Amino acid sequence: MAGEFGNPEIVEEEVDILLIGGGMACCGAAYEIMPWAKAAEGELGREFKIKLVDKAAMDRSGAVAQGLSAINTYIGTEQDPADYTRMVSNDLMGITRDDLAYDLGRHVDESVHLFEEWGLPIWKTDENGERHDGSKGLPSLADGGKPVRSGKWQIMINGESYKWIVAEASKKALGMDRIQERVFIVKLVNDKNDPNRIAGAVGFNVREHKLHVYKFKACLLAAGGCVNIFRPRSVGEGTGRAWYPVWNAGSTYSMAAEAGAELTMMENRFVPTRFKDGYGPVGAWFLLFKSKAANAYGENYLVKNADMLDQYPPYGQAAVPASCLRNHVMLKEMKEGRGPIYMDTVTALANLRETLSPREVKHLEAEAWEDFLDMCVGQCGIWVGENIEPEKKNSELMPTEPYLLGSHSGCCGIWTSGPEDVGAPTEETEAGVPDHLPKGWNWGYRGMTTVQGLFTAGDGVGASGHKFSSGSHAEGRMAAKAMIKFVVDNKDHTPELDTPVDQLMEEIYQPVRTYLEHKDYSTAIDVNPNYITPKMLQFRLQKIMDEYVAGVATYYNTNDKMLEVAEYKLEMLKEDAKKMRAKDLHELLRAWENYHRILTAEAHMKHIQFREESRYPGFYYRTDKNFVDEENWHCFVNSIYDKESQKWTVFKRAHVDLVDKSKLFKK
Ligand code: FAD
Ligand code: ADX
Repeated sequence: MAGEFGNPEIVEEEVDILLIGGGMACCGAAYEIMPWAKAAEGELGREFKIKLVDKAAMDRSGAVAQGLSAINTYIGTEQDPADYTRMVSNDLMGITRDDLAYDLGRHVDESVHLFEEWGLPIWKTDENGERHDGSKGLPSLADGGKPVRSGKWQIMINGESYKWIVAEASKKALGMDRIQERVFIVKLVNDKNDPNRIAGAVGFNVREHKLHVYKFKACLLAAGGCVNIFRPRSVGEGTGRAWYPVWNAGSTYSMAAEAGAELTMMENRFVPTRFKDGYGPVGAWFLLFKSKAANAYGENYLVKNADMLDQYPPYGQAAVPASCLRNHVMLKEMKEGRGPIYMDTVTALANLRETLSPREVKHLEAEAWEDFLDMCVGQCGIWVGENIEPEKKNSELMPTEPYLLGSHSGCCGIWTSGPEDVGAPTEETEAGVPDHLPKGWNWGYRGMTTVQGLFTAGDGVGASGHKFSSGSHAEGRMAAKAMIKFVVDNKDHTPELDTPVDQLMEEIYQPVRTYLEHKDYSTAIDVNPNYITPKMLQFRLQKIMDEYVAGVATYYNTNDKMLEVAEYKLEMLKEDAKKMRAKDLHELLRAWENYHRILTAEAHMKHIQFREESRYPGFYYRTDKNFVDEENWHCFVNSIYDKESQKWTVFKRAHVDLVDKSKLFKK
């Protein structure tokens, strides 16, 4: 039967390090890891065995798949890592890990320089201050070339092939024989002799009937954030259209949680304001084109509602209000009936014509389209379909359904070990931890979670957003180095799976078994009392989250009572999830993606429930606690999941500022 649907061929492999995901973080790790591995071979006494698996094809997988038109984190010579740390903290309402942000800030530019070396065209400013495409041959950033800053942190690129370029370098560095695409990892397996250690992972090939079982000493879990737990604004024929990439289904958070890793800030979410229906990015419009957004009556709501920011930290003082607060002032207009909200592209482009040379104007008008063509081609379809010429007609903006991620303008994720050399003296110290670091922020290996051998990066690392593409790559590189050290330090350890392979196979193929057992009960394949299709189950999850956990249906409002209902309904859903069917490999993938989504959604709900305030107005509101409570809730909210009892333990961890935040305030 091997190879037939219903009983897969089992492929077992033992490596030292498994990289899970082929996105920016894993590409960074894949690029960096071999030189460190080579250097440590002597200590290990043999060659390292390393493997990367991605559920998709690396050239176009993850959040950078469509390309990007800006690198959103480049420190450059104008700022330093401490400024960056302040910005990250401010945008995420004061609760971030300064050690992680600072560490990222001091490494990120090196990744950007590598991208340019590999052929990514980066826009440049010439000696007269004029802007040019990256193809114009001006000096590279590493050689002192000046980038075109769209914002303080962002630089413009011609980036349609960004992911392709980054993936190519990683493939070359790691070698194709160490890479396996189209393998979806379903679960991590703990060590038989130490439940707080990771020993393996199991997944399946999404094209062939093969189950892959990996054993390892260390693993980098960097499978991105989570999309499609909330009902999207586009349903029916628009289903599947979302801002966030459809690959990333919460695998990072759910698999880490099941392995026992401590999660952090899972209450945080990102609700991007986007060009309506196509999800076109707004950053270039706000920052590069200096465009303003207005309500339907032409009022600049950010100015008009500025007083609203005085209620929230840093109490109207921030030079640039946090992303959630920018949503907050916009939502007021929408809720009070002054929508639609528009991006005033007409005025922005007219203004640019007054100050720029004709060549630059032409370049920027082309960029108005290229911005979307590079990273969100669907938005061009909408402009074309609706006869929108941005210089003649304004476009609607809309806040989207929520997404969970830790590398863009959000900070949910896993609690990880930080660098050893960043910090200031504090009372929060403990024996064995460098005394300048807050208690519990460092346990030896940068990027390691609270489970031995389990590392993460990019969207996986919590409490430190605004890494974006470049920062996620850099964080993957840092994790690679730390994993090599970990493997060397644990060279005598032999990983042993705590679950027999046959049992793992049965668990993963349960949706197939369910289908085969019951398929003949009814004549309509999708209508059957003995199973639920993954698609239907996903609708149920999205409905629960949308209506009770502050989705678009309630204008992002929830309260303690609604959360109680959600808690109960999610439990019911978890029960029914065991009845998901898989009639083919595609549905098996969808079934397990849903499983990952449910656990991620549950973590999100539990954290919102635990945090008795509304820390991120504009992203979500707890209407029963509709305020920010600095006295009681200026802290991290962390959680641990027990996969045996299926219970969450949610708790507070102290927050400490390592960098002076007042320097970011307006004068
Ligand atoms: P990803 O790059 O998303 O990679 C995740 C990988 O995991 C993918 O390869 C996926 O296939 C794989 N995977 C998922 N689940 C599994 C599984 N179970 N098993 C195996 N593999 C799995 N940054 C910028 O600098 N500039 C921008 O303009 C910009 N625009 C953005 C626009 C959008 C729409 C989004 C979503 C992000 C944008 N970013 C931008 C941010 C940037 O893309 C992310 O920060 C970065 O890609 C995160 O890296 P990552 O490796 O954590 O995740
Ligand atoms: S993108 O990743 O799709 O490009 P987005 O358009 O939200 O995202 O933002 C790109 C960058 O611009 C991010 O660094 C974001 O924080 C910043 N940004 C977007 N809008 C604004 C704004 N109105 N003010 C300041 N920064 C902004």
